[in-house]
Amino acid sequence: MSTQIPIVSGAQPTGGHLQEFNTTPLAFLHRAYAECGEVSQFDLGGLRTVLLVGPPAHEAFFRAADEQLSAAQAYQMMVPVFGEGIQYGAPPAIERQQLKMQVQGLKHERMVNYAGVVEAETEQFLRDWPAAGEFDIYDAFTRLTLKTSTHCLLGREFRQQLTEEFAELYHALEDGLAPSSLSNPFQDAERFRARDRARERLEALIGERVAQRRQAGGWEHDMLQVYMDATYNDGRKLTDHEITGMVIWFMFAGHHTSSNTTAWTLLEIARNPQYGERLYAEIDALFADTEELTLKGLREIPLLDGFIREALRLHPPLNAITRRVMSDWHYEGYTVPAGSNIMVSPHISHKLPEYFPAPDVFDPERPVPQNPFVEIPFGGGRHKCIGNGFAILQVKAILSTLLHQYHFELAAPPESYTEIMPALILRPSDPCVLRYRRRVAA
Ligand code: HEM
Repeated sequence: MSTQIPIVSGAQPTGGHLQEFNTTPLAFLHRAYAECGEVSQFDLGGLRTVLLVGPPAHEAFFRAADEQLSAAQAYQMMVPVFGEGIQYGAPPAIERQQLKMQVQGLKHERMVNYAGVVEAETEQFLRDWPAAGEFDIYDAFTRLTLKTSTHCLLGREFRQQLTEEFAELYHALEDGLAPSSLSNPFQDAERFRARDRARERLEALIGERVAQRRQAGGWEHDMLQVYMDATYNDGRKLTDHEITGMVIWFMFAGHHTSSNTTAWTLLEIARNPQYGERLYAEIDALFADTEELTLKGLREIPLLDGFIREALRLHPPLNAITRRVMSDWHYEGYTVPAGSNIMVSPHISHKLPEYFPAPDVFDPERPVPQNPFVEIPFGGGRHKCIGNGFAILQVKAILSTLLHQYHFELAAPPESYTEIMPALILRPSDPCVLRYRRRVAA
């Protein structure tokens, strides 16, 4: 006999809770937890969705087999963006092989070069900065991390090709992830047609690069080469369509997640000037013997580490980690029927006072929880983020370079900086302006 899962109040006759969820997703999820506790259910336009909160529920969720709780079925809106046959548009065995190919870009021997690349891109970004001024951190870091991610992961050649056209195509793909894509990503609407045209054009551009490199017989130390050389277990090579999808997948997974983490961390640095003296001293020590950042050096900046970790706790970029229930799933006397979605949300879980005393206080020196299912900005289990090490390295390298040269403070009242989630990722409200002033002679 299973217990009825508590239902969140306020369902509308048409669409259930969909409208509230689409307009204020985080406030809605917090309300669901406050009303119903560890397990709650709501109706997203006919799709029963169950929210699980707290480490024991997270552990059950993340440890479930794909055959029971399917990520692929929950994230079908990504299929037209990445392309059929890539990641969740491919059979699970192929998806796992593709994921292994992606991991090549994040191996230690590659990571050691990335710190210098990110530093050089950040130096270039700072090149025209005057001694003092203001800048919008959301916009700036969105542009900068597109360059750093492309340069590190896809290589120099790709970075040089990062033309206006590439950026526009990439934008059109992002637009294809509007909330309405969750219910049907294949619907006939201009936004989705534009997404499909952008995908086609990108494939033509990448196909040209691949053909040129093959013709020239060249070899580069970058991901394009990894994709070109990779073979599936049966010996088959990736097609241009698949290579394009792998590029888009890697960029999408790492770009906005990293750019927002950079923005949130710098915003918290500006909001919490009481740590300033120690933080700037730590950064200066990093550059004391060398003007070049190293992976090893970046491992030894505990206060900046704490700032990034705490920014990821309070402002986790991904807040609807979802699975589709493939066969009835049981948890603590509840049964979630097949066909439902189940969700865990770091934003809710990271504010549980029993695990994070005074949860709304930003404390970069908070102890790290021992249980891996307490703090989950990178997910957990078999789908846990493979790019977390690279993401942290990137954020640290950008911020150390900035903080070594400039001091930052808020340019507007503290309460005007709020959280918004217009699409899938939590970001600072618009505009999000900080003031800067040069610290050392550049
Ligand atoms: C602060 C930055 C980042 C955050 C907060 C983040 C968060 C996450 C989360 C929560 C998941 C799990 C999703 C789920 O279980 O449904 C995930 C998966 C993934 N992430 Fe990240 N991510 C970040 C950066 C990156 C970067 C830089 C890359 C690549 C370079 C990357 C590549 C991936 C991939 C490929 C997966 C899918 C793994 C799988 O399906 O097995 N991420 N990420």
